[in-house]
Amino acid sequence: MTSFNQQDGALHCEGVSLEAIAQSHGTPTYVYSHAAIKDAFLSYQNAVGDHPHLICYAVKANSNLAILRTLASLGAGFDVVSVGELERVMAAGGDAGKVVFSGVGKTASEMRRGLQAGIKCFNVESEAELRLLASVAETMACIAPISIRVNPDVDAGTHPYISTGLRENKFGVDVESARDLYRFADDAPFLEPVGIDCHIGSQILDVAPFITALHSLLGLIDELAEDGISLDHLDVGGGLGVSYESAAPAVAEYVFALAEHIAGRPLELLFEPGRSIVAMAGALLTEVLYLKPGDLRQFAVVDAAMNDLLRPALYGARQEIRAVSPRAGDAEIWDIVGPVCETSDFLGKDRELVLEQGDLLAVMGAGAYGFSMASNYNSRPRPTEVLIKDDTVHVISRRESITDLWRSEEIPPEIAS
Ligand code: LLP
Repeated sequence: MTSFNQQDGALHCEGVSLEAIAQSHGTPTYVYSHAAIKDAFLSYQNAVGDHPHLICYAVKANSNLAILRTLASLGAGFDVVSVGELERVMAAGGDAGKVVFSGVGKTASEMRRGLQAGIKCFNVESEAELRLLASVAETMACIAPISIRVNPDVDAGTHPYISTGLRENKFGVDVESARDLYRFADDAPFLEPVGIDCHIGSQILDVAPFITALHSLLGLIDELAEDGISLDHLDVGGGLGVSYESAAPAVAEYVFALAEHIAGRPLELLFEPGRSIVAMAGALLTEVLYLKPGDLRQFAVVDAAMNDLLRPALYGARQEIRAVSPRAGDAEIWDIVGPVCETSDFLGKDRELVLEQGDLLAVMGAGAYGFSMASNYNSRPRPTEVLIKDDTVHVISRRESITDLWRSEEIPPEIAS
């Protein structure tokens, strides 16, 4: 379904006009469609069908409690990479028993919390981490369920900053070392190998690299079977791209392609999708503050900035920008920039639009890695987030106030005098 559509000449989210949202809640504001999130999640569930599976939503994509609750109520598991994300999942009513814990730098206290909460699995990324986890589990007299994150050395053809499955990346361990780690874990009294895991990158627009990675994992699973080590689940990670600019594979196409290769194997199939669940369900609503026409470039200065949506500045990402109420007239080419004092502070370059001061724009595809990567840079409060469900607007995160900006800061008396 399309959650954002033009009705009576104006952009709506489901049945609610973005103009009305801006009037009631101000700008910048993130707007999410509940139905679109649900549909995206169910497209994974439906495609996997009867094969045993767990869709572990990658919390980092959008960690708002209401969104986590939405997904938990649909039966989602979660992929977390910090104790903060784990606590969010539990605060939202998610089941810790459906949580996998990824990340190259888990601390001993994060491990303790994960064990205490009874998570499904630690996705272990190095020998040193495995040894620490073994000793933490021993001190707690419990058994840590583990997967080794395999780095299959596959080029996912994505932006270098979000490619994770190459040997030169910090993530996971190569296939040969993984086999040794499984043997170690199998012999260790406080570790239990339960799965195998990989994640080769994000915003991947081709199914082929996923299949190549899967073959590495299946090869290792067969070798482990020779060693007498059998695993319960296979976690293929996240990474399926969305259609920001060019077409992405449909979820069903991707899921079928993977599921086909494990048919007949008694393995629960885990996915860790983030972007493909929430990206297209969200837009960032912003107002044009000023127009700065010019000979070389024309700037539309809007009230959202790189601190609100970092992707264009950090990765040169191109997301569609739409006028909320498109005007008739001759379109011109604009750079859509924010108020932050950096030249990298742009939301979009070379956009063909008819603009006037005060117009509302929507940066589309902003549901993933938007708010979750927002900061207070330039002492800018983070925006409101609203979730549209059944044509009702729910504020799921209020705009930060100015005093929120320094709520954790202190002026020591010695300095104050
Ligand atoms: N699992 C692991 C271990 C991950 O590191 C990630 C994303 C995912 C799953 C989810 O991947 P997804 O399905 O969302 O592609 N900030 C970047 C994306 C960074 C992704 C990091 N890891 C961006 O805005 O493009």
